Amino acid sequence: MSIHFFKCNFVKSKLPTRSSRYRIGKEIGGAIYLHRDYEDELGEAIVQAKLHLNDEVDYTIVKLNLKTKAISFICCDDFDIEDEPEVGDSIIVHPDGQTRRRSKAKDPEIYHHKWMFVADDYKGFDVERSRMRSLRWINLKGLNKRKIGKKSYWVENVLPRLNGQPRDEVSEPRESWGEQLSECDKAAKPMTEVPRHKTAIKRGSYSKPVKCLLRDGLLSDSKVFFDYGCGHGRDLDLLADIDISCQGWDPAFRPTAPKNEAAVVNIGYVINVIEDPNERADAVRSAWALAKEVLCVAAQIEFAAPEKEQQVFGDGYLTSRGTFQKYYNQHELREYLQDVVGTDAISAAPGIFYLFKCEEAKQQFFATRFKRRYTVPRQRISEVLFDQNRDLLDPFMERLTELGRVPAASEYAASNAIIEKFGSLKRAFKLIQKVTDESPWEEIAQKRCEDLLVYLALARFRKRPPLSKLPPTVQKDIKVFLGGYKVACGRADTLLFRAGDPDAIDQACQRSNVGQLVDNALIFHKSCLDSLEPLLRIYEGCARALVGELDDANVIKLHRFSGKVSYITYDGFDKNPHPQLKERMKVSLRSLNIDWFDYSTWDDPYVLLEKFELVNDNYKQRILFERFAKSLRRIGIVSNNNQLKKSELSIRLKNSQVHLQGHRLVNS
Ligand SMILES: C[S@@+](CC[C@H](N)C(=O)[O-])C[C@H]1O[C@@H](n2cnc3c(N)ncnc32)[C@H](O)[C@@H]1O
Repeated sequence: MSIHFFKCNFVKSKLPTRSSRYRIGKEIGGAIYLHRDYEDELGEAIVQAKLHLNDEVDYTIVKLNLKTKAISFICCDDFDIEDEPEVGDSIIVHPDGQTRRRSKAKDPEIYHHKWMFVADDYKGFDVERSRMRSLRWINLKGLNKRKIGKKSYWVENVLPRLNGQPRDEVSEPRESWGEQLSECDKAAKPMTEVPRHKTAIKRGSYSKPVKCLLRDGLLSDSKVFFDYGCGHGRDLDLLADIDISCQGWDPAFRPTAPKNEAAVVNIGYVINVIEDPNERADAVRSAWALAKEVLCVAAQIEFAAPEKEQQVFGDGYLTSRGTFQKYYNQHELREYLQDVVGTDAISAAPGIFYLFKCEEAKQQFFATRFKRRYTVPRQRISEVLFDQNRDLLDPFMERLTELGRVPAASEYAASNAIIEKFGSLKRAFKLIQKVTDESPWEEIAQKRCEDLLVYLALARFRKRPPLSKLPPTVQKDIKVFLGGYKVACGRADTLLFRAGDPDAIDQACQRSNVGQLVDNALIFHKSCLDSLEPLLRIYEGCARALVGELDDANVIKLHRFSGKVSYITYDGFDKNPHPQLKERMKVSLRSLNIDWFDYSTWDDPYVLLEKFELVNDNYKQRILFERFAKSLRRIGIVSNNNQLKKSELSIRLKNSQVHLQGHRLVNS
């Protein structure tokens, strides 16, 4: 051991201790921080705060301000992975229920001593090893205590000293590091030179692919689920909580679990951690062999790759933790899966694909993806017969609305009761039309017909199935609305080819009665998508077929001339009077390229000026948005492209001696 090293770098080692009042967590600066697994320790305060929290917040850390009693729910995706994880976006809930968002800083803060946030038996990382790491740096001389919480300072000033520090010269002897495998690591011995098990994180909520399966109705309590490469098995725990029968296998964490067949199989973020291409393809094939209806595959995509340089290893990279990561682009991942499995890979979201084994499940998925929701037409006059039979007719009207046509007897569970009462389903429908007026039903039928055309046009991408392979309800829809499969496919093809014609797209954009028409594009809120004419829905659908669903994007831009579609995320579209531009994904239908632009770290981002231009007349806050925009126009705050730099907007408001209170202008 070099005495010189010790002299230069260490004074007496003393580790901080976990909070004594809560028995767990790190107390610092008048607040306590702990991992969400232990949030119950905060008692009633956390229960109350969570009532104001949107379900979608995927937080890892909880902070209680001991003075104000405000609770922050903080994202920290790399908590289990990094020694000093980054502090991400957060939502702060005040005791009066007011909430505030805080975005991750451009130069993020980091958490030190993460072992204090959890108990000793926590399984997400090696707690003892983390404690030892604290011991290694805590008494390094010359650290700037005020800057040490910032990532940049840590990376530039502390890590080089830690990394250069000989292991023998720290407080624990080298051997003990190897011996101090946590329970988790003991159960999860590395299988190869590359420690793949280290890539598994302890998730706070469902993984993205499982969220997609639930969103798309492919996973429900009537389906059995199998998670291939399940890591710590958090998805399995959460699905079991909602009564979905599920099992999983993982070579590191559940090596002895059986690999069972299931209707829905997931292989989430596994192939990107396998460094051997043959083994990677074997894993996909094995998961596919277990899937009876659909296999969901998720992998890291290239725009999720960290910006810092990584060491090239095989066809991917070695991370600083010695794990392997391969980053795919969407198109490449689709081609890869199609090659390995020999069936269509359908985009569910960036980096996530479905591979269907059951044709009916696949067609059902597509038919519902492009099917819009309608409200039941309102009754105009009450007729005696109608009123007397409301209990029979109300659910029948729901079904009529859903189908847009009279169902076949087999398509409606209570058909017998209706037939007994009215003679036939058609006669019951006639009665309903008399009472409610005919036109709304015609409109529904027209829209249903358009939905079908959109579905059939986009099905062309994936080799359209024969009629007999479509679900019986869709077969009947095609016959009733479009007069037969051949005619329907012909009409759908015409539309699809026109979607590649810039003139046709430009004219359709000009005809659109929703959204804002600008020089090169039609821009609208995503809620308007279903109100577009079929040609534009198909144009957008082509982009979605490439990129999958983008749940966070709230604004869509259809480029009029260049064959591109952009999906744009503005932060807090409804709540924020001027939502900030957060990210944008541009899909080129000609080159199949996807570009991703991240604005979340910009100091002076663009803000959206007039939201009302982008929404439909029936959007719930449209009147409020419009009134607000007009008051801004009155004081001369306008912009050609409907956005301004945030700083520019502040200057203009200041010059006009006003400030904002929600969606209101107030004199300063
Ligand atoms: C990034 S984790 C993902 C875990 C989990 N699916 C999730 O999304 O939270 C990658 C997992 O792949 C597992 N793994 C490594 N090689 C594998 C293989 N050949 N087959 C299946 N899983 C494998 C690792 O043990 C690790 O748990």
